[in-house]
Amino acid sequence: MYQVIARKYRPQTFEEVVGQAHVKQTLRNAIDQGRIAHGYVFSGPRGTGKTTLARILAMALNCEGGPSSSADPQSPACREIAAGGSLDVIEIDAASNRRIDDIRELRESVRFRPVRDRYKVFIIDEAHQITSDAFNALLKTLEEPPEWAVFVLCTTEPQAIPPTIASRCQSFAFRSVDLPLVIEHLARICRSEGVEAENDALTALALAGDGSIRDSLSALDQSIAAFGKSLDAKQVRDLLGAIPSEVTVQILVAIRDGDPGAMLAIVDDLFQQGRHPQHFCGELTRQFRNLMVMKFAGADSHLVVAGEREREAARAWTEEFSNEDLTRYVQILLALYQDLQQATQQRFRLEIGLLKLVFAGRLRPIEELLSGLAPGESATPPQPASRKVRRRPSTARPPVATPARPEPAPVASAAPAAESRASKRVKERAPRPPQPAPVPELAPPPPAVTEFKQRLIESIEQSEAAFLADAIRSSELERQGRVVTFRVPDEWTAMMELQKPLLEAALMGLVGGKPDVRLVGGNAGSSGQDQSSPAPSPARAAEARDSGHVDQRALANPAFLEFKKRFEGRVADVMDLRKKAQ
Ligand SMILES: Nc1ncnc2c1ncn2[C@@H]1O[C@H](COP(=O)(O)OP(=O)(O)OP(=O)(O)O)[C@@H](O)[C@H]1O
Ligand SMILES: [Mg+2]
Repeated sequence: MYQVIARKYRPQTFEEVVGQAHVKQTLRNAIDQGRIAHGYVFSGPRGTGKTTLARILAMALNCEGGPSSSADPQSPACREIAAGGSLDVIEIDAASNRRIDDIRELRESVRFRPVRDRYKVFIIDEAHQITSDAFNALLKTLEEPPEWAVFVLCTTEPQAIPPTIASRCQSFAFRSVDLPLVIEHLARICRSEGVEAENDALTALALAGDGSIRDSLSALDQSIAAFGKSLDAKQVRDLLGAIPSEVTVQILVAIRDGDPGAMLAIVDDLFQQGRHPQHFCGELTRQFRNLMVMKFAGADSHLVVAGEREREAARAWTEEFSNEDLTRYVQILLALYQDLQQATQQRFRLEIGLLKLVFAGRLRPIEELLSGLAPGESATPPQPASRKVRRRPSTARPPVATPARPEPAPVASAAPAAESRASKRVKERAPRPPQPAPVPELAPPPPAVTEFKQRLIESIEQSEAAFLADAIRSSELERQGRVVTFRVPDEWTAMMELQKPLLEAALMGLVGGKPDVRLVGGNAGSSGQDQSSPAPSPARAAEARDSGHVDQRALANPAFLEFKKRFEGRVADVMDLRKKAQ
């Protein structure tokens, strides 16, 4: 009868096990020194050799002339164990024997000596499935087992093994198997099966397993069933639903260039090819996760399962995006994967999810934005957060390794080239020596208004709202009866809005009743610190600083105004943290 490749090629000796060097070495030493523990926990990803090594351990313990780490797999005892027919090596599937009664039965069986061999080995697969009562029933047996009993608990979820159990066992953490080792193993099996496989086909099979040898062997089985004894890389990739590298590059280019049209065209292609959206999204998530890990841990990181060629291509892409960008992209894709679990409107869901990647754009790190905010320091020219830094024509070429965004120009390093344009900008931004409050360059208002404005300023300077005088000076003012319209420069808008009641109170006497105050933002004539500074006159600033109004103090602070400008923000609220702390 046909036996699947994974079973046919289950290793029978320590040497045949691929990877897991640390586990193999420790177990062999323990066996050869006769230091055999009664309990072992083998934990790690699926299909990496846990059950296989548990059986090899059982063979080593029970082989003729043993225990020995070099047991002969062809000996009758070992063959029996390998075939699962040994009376003294008992494999229990904890997924279906997880209850207390099952464990009680097992305890009974532990009490009896092995029928023929030296040790009675209990291999408990999926041990994390055992109920907590059943684990408790096992505690005593694990604590003081009879001399012939050895337990091997295999699990993919070590955290689900109670500490009381784990502390009575020796733990071995199995690892995902490195890609080159998996490829070599696949090549060996192909040779002995008489299968001709292109190198890239083997890489695709190994990648499909994501570090699990069983999964890679299953993929190999599937490919042989589909294409016979000659495996072509493209066919294999298509069969496994892997995303062709050109498509990944197209997606990355669309994100980098902020090109929603290109992204929609990619989705269209995918549907034309009949790809499964969720599977596709899962693959894409894996690739973006790899980029993210390589960005954080370096392109050579062993945390990424990838071939040399993929690594090289990915290295260049990691330089195109920031840490924050890649993290966000992975989050967006994870959410999309969840969303695609809904069976309806798959195409729209995929379109929206991938468009989110485009619109997520690229963020500048907050540190970069904040750098140079203190008065007197330089800063990069302000760029809005969450906007694309640059656009490039859409191409499918791999990226050149350029920084994702222009480097901030730190003052310290702006030394001799200090008269460069950047440093001039720095100087322009530095706080200026004391000077009178700026008057915006506006067309001169009609005399009646000027006089009215003058009276308003005088009256307000006598009132508790004196700090508004600068804002009013910088604003254009129109009056029609009780309707008073202020065209306010951006930098003062927030304060005028906050202090509207005080403004109304000050106008009350001047217009002979309750005024209708209208504030219109965006007085171009005085916007921007560079032309007509929003920085208040020193006298005003000092006055504001000393006065009790926190918002007024904040708005008198040039650093705060620069902050507000850089974040293109409105002032939502101003808090006195000292008061809050009291
Ligand atoms: N390290 C390895 N070296 C060689 N072959 C391996 C290795 N790990 C797994 N295999 C192959 O995969 C098959 C399954 O392995 P095994 O049962 O040991 O995995 P496992 O770690 O117990 O997985 P699970 O957690 O799913 O039970 C084996 O028959 C073998 O063909
Ligand atoms: Mg297993």
